[in-house]
Amino acid sequence: MTTFSTAPSASERRNLYTPHKMRIVKATDEAPGVRTFQLQFVDSEVGARFSFEAGQFGEYSVYGEGESTFCIASSPTRTGYIECTFRQAGRVTSALADRQEGDIIGFRGPYGNTFPVERWEGKNVLFIAGGIALPPVRCVIWNVLDLRDRYRDVSIIYGARTVADLVYKHELAEWDQRSDVNLWVTVDPGGQTPEWTGKVGFVPAIVEEVRPRPADTIAVLCGPPIMIKLTLPVLAKLGFAPEQIYTTLENRMKCGVGKCGRCNVGKVFVCKDGPVFTLAQLNELPPEY
Ligand SMILES: Cc1cc2nc3c(=O)[nH]c(=O)nc-3n(C[C@H](O)[C@H](O)[C@H](O)COP(=O)(O)OP(=O)(O)OC[C@H]3O[C@@H](n4cnc5c(N)ncnc54)[C@H](O)[C@@H]3O)c2cc1C
Ligand code: FES
Repeated sequence: MTTFSTAPSASERRNLYTPHKMRIVKATDEAPGVRTFQLQFVDSEVGARFSFEAGQFGEYSVYGEGESTFCIASSPTRTGYIECTFRQAGRVTSALADRQEGDIIGFRGPYGNTFPVERWEGKNVLFIAGGIALPPVRCVIWNVLDLRDRYRDVSIIYGARTVADLVYKHELAEWDQRSDVNLWVTVDPGGQTPEWTGKVGFVPAIVEEVRPRPADTIAVLCGPPIMIKLTLPVLAKLGFAPEQIYTTLENRMKCGVGKCGRCNVGKVFVCKDGPVFTLAQLNELPPEY
């Protein structure tokens, strides 16, 4: 007689909300109040099974404080670790900011949809980011640069309020040195230092000045709402169609997996259907958005 075990497997026993333990192997201060953690799974078997794609996010937790949602800021082409970059905003991010190399934090994920980088192969890719919104874009930038021969021109326009507020300063310098990347870094008027040799001006003005060509180009646009609002008309004027423009939303989240209803806009769950959307998709969302 054949017998079937009805005992749940280890993965079935695992509660959806139970975080995995991750060790902070490297902590980097990027800018005032902004830190990057490089994280490795404490359980190496979990680490070996883990995979994600550009655009996905996770829930990062500190015991006794709660969870915060951050994108995975490292590229899926680089395995064995993930990175997140966060700004100290409130309770959980302050507790995270106090953690040091060697400390353990919690992680659930990866969640959400992805940037369709494979569909973009053979095209130009234009990245436009402002302030602390570079982390979700950085993930895709490295993904594209690690597979550089699959894409045509790669251009990056990045702005921050001041020179001190620029994140990933070493990587900006590295991209600046590369002959296969066009990079413009700008700071808001008044945010420059005497040594600053980059641009001065708001991101939409720099996009207008650079005049990227829309033909065969995908634009990835992430930044504060005012930057997005003022950059979209510039892209439209240059001839970019809503289907060519991608962004990632940061609606407040709780579960991250489509169960709590915290993040939805109409019938769309940003945590499951997003966070990556084209402008054409956002234009279809209910007017309250
Ligand atoms: C998909 C997604 C990806 C994100 N990626 C990043 C990232 O890579 N790096 C990063 O620094 N932040 C990111 N965020 C925002 C981040 O989740 C919040 O800043 C963080 O959870 C605040 O937690 P807290 O407990 O410290 O703050 P709280 O004590 O909860 O709040 C402090 C302040 O932050 C505001 N706040 C909290 N959450 C958000 C939010 N989602 N959007 C706007 N304001 C908010 C609150 O209104 C309040 O004013 C992301 C959010 C989402 C949904
Ligand atoms: S965060 Fe719970 S449904 Fe999206």
